[in-house]
Amino acid sequence: MKNICVGISGVGSYVPEKIVTNHDLSKIVETSNEWIIERTGIHERRIADDDMATSDIATKAAINALEDARLRPEDIDLIIVATVTADHAFPSTACIIQKNIGAVKAAAFDISVGCSGFVYGLSIGENFIKSGTYDKVLVIGAETLSRVVDWQERNTCVLFGDGAGACVLEKCEEGFGILSIELGSDGSNGEVLVQPAGGSRLPASMDTVENRLHFIKMDGKEVFKFAVRVMERASTNALEKANLQLGDLDFLVPHQANMRIIDAAAKKLKLEKDRICVNLNKYGNMSSASIPVALDEAVKDNKINKGDNILLVAFGAGLTWASMTIKWSRREDR
Ligand code: UT7
Repeated sequence: MKNICVGISGVGSYVPEKIVTNHDLSKIVETSNEWIIERTGIHERRIADDDMATSDIATKAAINALEDARLRPEDIDLIIVATVTADHAFPSTACIIQKNIGAVKAAAFDISVGCSGFVYGLSIGENFIKSGTYDKVLVIGAETLSRVVDWQERNTCVLFGDGAGACVLEKCEEGFGILSIELGSDGSNGEVLVQPAGGSRLPASMDTVENRLHFIKMDGKEVFKFAVRVMERASTNALEKANLQLGDLDFLVPHQANMRIIDAAAKKLKLEKDRICVNLNKYGNMSSASIPVALDEAVKDNKINKGDNILLVAFGAGLTWASMTIKWSRREDR
């Protein structure tokens, strides 16, 4: 039987216009531009206007990705949205985006995998296409983390930003597209990164609001240690599964959480700075949106060309991790 290869045929992204700098934050919590840059690499982040929800920014990214793939919304068979900041507990954000863009024949659902969500989404999409169930899948990573960040808590509020990125998956030439996938989770350590209230464990109440339990709670040091360990392991495993050597890798698109975490991964992979997509200086950590936004920028800047081997690698709440190697299948002149 002929091997079905699945690649990215379109990429798009959107970030809100409003910029919040480190200096702005130093006026609301006890922090400084120097501390944030030295410990994280972040200079500024985008924050969605009050009347914008995750589906609004995701819709703009989705439209951009469809245009890039030269497809109409009604061509899409499935929409997968990775997010931890859905518009509502239900209906899914994917269904809202389906309505917004007019993807009338698409099935649609959300997945909750924290910052690893976009790579999980790509892997689900790939499998639907490989199995013959669907032809064209739209995968979106979108977040409005500003809504769940505690703006009184300097340990977390300096880290996150809002944004959305999207990719269209389709069959591609043999030998190109997604080469390998590595997904993992360690639920036993999930309490180090959590939004405690608002679900069935702690439904919203006066107490949960007074105790600020609807905001992100994070043990930064523990997440940091996990991230460094897992980024290296997930990267090496994905390369091995694709039969790629370190020298074969053209581009690393890592989850954008902390420059020190990215530097540690790059060192292990022996990669020079110009082969790593970095945008956390401009946007902070956009969770599931950080990889597709970085990928979109790299493609639009012509940094990624047909035949390049790229590695996506992420870690996040759950705890989870995900990595994927792709032999880029799109010509840059499309
Ligand atoms: O996508 C997944 C989401 N999360 C992550 O990826 C986070 C991973 N972790 C990290 O990126 C880092 O652990 C942080 C950036 C969160 C913190 O950096 P750190 O080097 O681990 O600092 P720390 O937590 O050990 O804090 C060092 C000091 C502390 O003061 P003391 O106890 O030494 O007096 C903190 O209270 O820095 C203080 N601190 C701050 N100071 C100024 C913490 N946050 C700030 C701040 N401004 N914003």
